[in-house]
Amino acid sequence: MKNGVYLRKVELKDTEILFKWFNDKENVKYMSTIMRCNPHSKESIENEINNSDDNYERLFMVCVNSDEKTIGYAGIDDIDFNDKRAEIFFLIGEIEEKRKGYGKKIVKLLLDYAFNELCLNSLFATATIENKPAISVLEKAGFSRIGIRRQYNYINRKYLDEIFFDITHEDYEISKRNNI
Ligand SMILES: CC(C)(COP(=O)(O)OP(=O)(O)OC[C@H]1O[C@@H](n2cnc3c(N)ncnc32)[C@H](O)[C@@H]1OP(=O)(O)O)[C@@H](O)C(=O)NCCC(=O)NCCS
Repeated sequence: MKNGVYLRKVELKDTEILFKWFNDKENVKYMSTIMRCNPHSKESIENEINNSDDNYERLFMVCVNSDEKTIGYAGIDDIDFNDKRAEIFFLIGEIEEKRKGYGKKIVKLLLDYAFNELCLNSLFATATIENKPAISVLEKAGFSRIGIRRQYNYINRKYLDEIFFDITHEDYEISKRNNI
């Protein structure tokens, strides 16, 4: 599959590139408070990889099939196997790989993994109101808006609303059948 994308588990060898992406302010501008506001050292990234707990999260590198280049980082976290729910996040680290439609493919891969491999029932995601690419990618992948938390993030000296999204296993099956 030329120019398709796939996910593989994050490994220690990925520390260098993650260090570069996580410290790029533009990349993480609309991500979680931890991603935006905490310093990211190589040591902290290595610790995160080493201490990653399968009972709680799955961390992936996003690769392009054609040349196995890593273009991003994505994951499923806050996993609760009792209630079968979790949250997703995604980042395309390389600027030249943005706006090529990979975002939607990454989210679809996360949905396939969460619903088919982990057998979860409900996924949650959030996007800051100004994060147009993330909003578009989530909606195109079948997520629904379920609410807004007002003035949730303080970014560039402005309080910005956060949009909450979810998708159930049932929604996922329907959107797959309709080939969305
Ligand atoms: C969110 C992200 C993964 C989207 O990936 P992408 O592959 O670049 O997105 P796409 O090329 O599929 O574009 C999605 C849509 O956003 C639009 N878009 C992309 N970049 C844009 C920009 N800078 N400004 C306005 N619109 C933009 C595209 O035109 C497209 O619109 P459409 O749905 O109407 O066709 C990427 O922008 C990213 O890594 N952002 C930083 C991390 C982040 O914020 N993650 C989300 C929170 S966890």
